[in-house]
Parts: sequence; C-alpha cells; structure tokens
Amino acid sequence: MNQHMQIELLQELVDLHQAKSQFLDESWETVSVDRYLDHQTFEREQQRIFKRVPLIAAHGSELPDPGSFLTRKIGGKPLLLVRGKSGGVSAFLNVCRHRGARLVGEDSGCRHRFSCPYHAWTWDSAGDLVGVPHQQSGFPNLEREQFGLHRVGCSEHAGWIWVALSDTRDPDVAAHLGLIEGEFDGLGADGCEIFDATTRDIHCNWKILVEGGLEAYHFRVAHRKTIAPLFLDNLSSYRCVGRHIRSVLPRSTLGEMAETATESWDIRKHSNVLYSLFPSSQFLVQEDHFVWIQGTPLAPDRTRLRLATMIPTTANLPERQDYWRKHHALTLRTLDEDFSLGESIQQGLSSGANSRLNFGRFEGALARFNQFVDEAIAS
Ligand code: FES
Ligand SMILES: [Fe+2]
Repeated sequence: MNQHMQIELLQELVDLHQAKSQFLDESWETVSVDRYLDHQTFEREQQRIFKRVPLIAAHGSELPDPGSFLTRKIGGKPLLLVRGKSGGVSAFLNVCRHRGARLVGEDSGCRHRFSCPYHAWTWDSAGDLVGVPHQQSGFPNLEREQFGLHRVGCSEHAGWIWVALSDTRDPDVAAHLGLIEGEFDGLGADGCEIFDATTRDIHCNWKILVEGGLEAYHFRVAHRKTIAPLFLDNLSSYRCVGRHIRSVLPRSTLGEMAETATESWDIRKHSNVLYSLFPSSQFLVQEDHFVWIQGTPLAPDRTRLRLATMIPTTANLPERQDYWRKHHALTLRTLDEDFSLGESIQQGLSSGANSRLNFGRFEGALARFNQFVDEAIAS
C-alpha cells in the first residue's frame, strides 16, 4: 500500500478517534438466521461460490521442489497438487481412473510417480498414466492418454497456488483480485514461508468465522484477556474493493502516532490491516509478518480453518524462533476465543431464539460481506 493511501486511511481513523466517534454505515442491518443453518443454502454456496471462484489451495512454499506434492480437500473435492519437473504446479482430483480409489494417502511428500494402492495403476507428475499392471491381457487397446488424472484448473500467482474447481482451465486470478491485486501482491507472499500452521475443525458456519474478523466491536469484551489492550475500543474502518474487503484495525498507539509528522506514519506499525478475499481467505497483516486464515466449509455447521503464521524467508533465523513461536501462540489463543464464540453462535442459532441477526452501523463490513455472498449465489 502506498504512503498516500496509508496516511489517508490512518487520518480517517485519527479523526474518528479524536471525535470519539466510529466508522459508521448509513443504517444498521439484519440478516436471516437461515443462511447459517440451511442445507440448501450451503449447497448453493458450494456450487455457485466455492466451485466457481478461484480459491487459494496452498502457499507456493508448501511445494518447494519438482515432485513436491500435497493433498487437500477443498469444496468437497479431494485434490492432489504437484509441482512438475519444469517447476509448474498442477492440480488433479486425487482419484484413481481405474476404479476410483484414493490415489495418494499422504498429506504431502516428494516424488514423480503416484501409484494407486489398489492395483497399482501409476501416473507421473504431469498426470499422465504411465503404468497399468497386466495391461495387455486385462485392458487390450486401452489408450493411456484417455486415462490421465482428472485435471483441475490451477495457477501460481503472487506466491499462492490457486485452483478453479469446476474448470480444467487455469483460473484468472488477476480478474478475481481486480483492483486489490496490487495491494495484495504488496504483501510479498512469494518471499515468505509458513513458520507454523494450525488446523481446526470448528462447529459453525463458515460465514460466522469470516464475520468474526470484520469488526472491532467485540475486541474489548471477547478478547479482554488477549489482544484488547493493544487496540482501540470499537474503532475500525473498511472499504470494499470488488467483493474483497480491506479493514483497518487501529492499535492503541494511534494517538501517539497522530502527534508525529504524517510522512512517518506506517500503517503496519499502528494498525492491523485485514484483507478478506472473497469468499473465505483472510490475511491479517501485522508489522513484520502476516497471518493467513483459510476457511473451508465442510457442512452448514462445520468449517475447517487453517491459520498460518507467514514470515519473510530472510527472517526465519535461529535466534528469532522464540519470537515467531510467541506470535503464532498469541494468534491461536486470540482466534480460539473467536472460534469458541462462533460455536456458541451456531448453537444459539439452531435453538430458534432469533430469526434474524443484527449488524450495527459499525459492523457494516459484515452486512457487505453477506450481500456479496447473496449476489454470488443468485447469479
Ligand atoms: S482402483 Fe486404482 S488401480 Fe485399481
Ligand atoms: Fe476476534
């Protein structure tokens, strides 16, 4: 983000802070509770969002070498991601073309041949069928080129591996990112690596988890034992950039910063910036690293969440291990507070106590996010 934009976003928050006000939408809004419970809505989201929109499947550093592979389940599809001999990444359905067994059982590894555990049909890292035991007698005239692994659109962009689940063509990531592309690329993800990653299966709808990042109204209450002292009470701003949302969550140092020359203002020092990429990737940018949070819906009331502490490769030094470990632990403790609230919300919604949820004027980003979901499933 350029300095001009940083100053503009910070000045807006300084003004609100000095006026003891908040970043307010025109009116407060409500959404129906059904959207978090209903199986049909969930299925429509899967078909019209998660199978259509380019999704982040991995960070490039998770496939470091030719032959590196990993398996993931995304949008209900079992995927095999492989870095080929020439360095490009391909995505395939992790399913044998003989009789459908799961081809690769491991989470990750490095090799150029993938042999099915059932009858050993074998494919190479380009997805080409290279071995069929007893082919001559069992499958005379079988044309191997007809039995390549089922390909899923995949491309590597700005340090991330993206997939398009309903397409064999590579996803147009630049078009998906739109005007936020430059800022997102500015995170420098291609020069980063995962310091540590934690995966949790959480018993709540995926949208509740996205919403949890989009307001600072809850900080003083829900995070009083962790990060509350680091932030100002109920102050944050947001902008929609296409269907993506950039939120700025100012730290309690904002007042001190306001006393200094604007040219020296640094948004990463005095606030957290959260990029919520549609539909369910969030990037919490801090002073010297960022946290990547990836939500994968499993059911209306269940979401797999993976959070990874991303650090510059050059900063992964032996003497800094403790420092990064502490950061990862604090993120985890803080987000666990959000996750347990998410689960309590899901239970509360199933009870039938509310027919609608309420988003205050300072929770406008939540209303916008839900509007983007509605537009996507209506299209
Ligand atoms: S099911 Fe895979 S080789 Fe038979
Ligand atoms: Fe939170």
